[in-house]
Amino acid sequence: MIGEKILRFKSIESTNDFLKVNSKSLANGTIVVSEEQTNGRGRSNHLWISEKGNLYFSFLIKDDVTRMEIFKYIANTSVAIIRLLRGFRIKSEIKYPNDILVEDKKICGILIESYGSLDIKYLVVGVGINVNQQDFKGLNKKATSIKNETNKSRDLDKILNIFIQSYNDVVKIDFNKIFKEYIGYSVVIGKNITNNKKTYLIKGIHKNGNLILENDGKIKYMSLNEISLEELY
Ligand code: BTN
Repeated sequence: MIGEKILRFKSIESTNDFLKVNSKSLANGTIVVSEEQTNGRGRSNHLWISEKGNLYFSFLIKDDVTRMEIFKYIANTSVAIIRLLRGFRIKSEIKYPNDILVEDKKICGILIESYGSLDIKYLVVGVGINVNQQDFKGLNKKATSIKNETNKSRDLDKILNIFIQSYNDVVKIDFNKIFKEYIGYSVVIGKNITNNKKTYLIKGIHKNGNLILENDGKIKYMSLNEISLEELY
């Protein structure tokens, strides 16, 4: 369960960093949300520009998580977002592993970070949903928002509450079912990828998040870290 405790900020460097620094004193499931971030971070050390009008939040997971299980949190969060968007009649899909797109335009990004050396001590799941932003400057062909898709401004608190409900519903369901749902929304399957000069067909995604690849009738598994995602999309 997430969201029993919610900490709200007007401005913060990064909601992910706040949870990282305060993880010891905060309870499992705590959410931090901020109206803007001055140092919002995306995956691969990218900056996540976080002006007022969109939803920026993170939640803390203190479950006993192994590295092989991190993907479960990626899939649960992605499915919770897709369901939330469906509630606004927005049809979205998942760009592996965890970008949420509407007709090739990004509407939501997820940044999951794990802390602890051998054993994972805790996870921080950060979510940025484009809600009321209409102009993405140079990125209008690559980004969209709930407002751009529905022509209506939305209350950020309400969207956060819908997410909390959606996520808490998803984690109650058997993961095999959620994983199937995730696969159904995923756009990576059937694409080709090259690795060490060999071309592989992406046949599927394993429940631990590895891609299942085929070359010359042989099956190979590849982890997220080994894959260059740039060429996929
Ligand atoms: C990505 O697509 O690269 C992931 C973007 C994640 C952005 C969110 S906004 C709230 C949380 N705090 C951060 O600094 N980043 C995540």
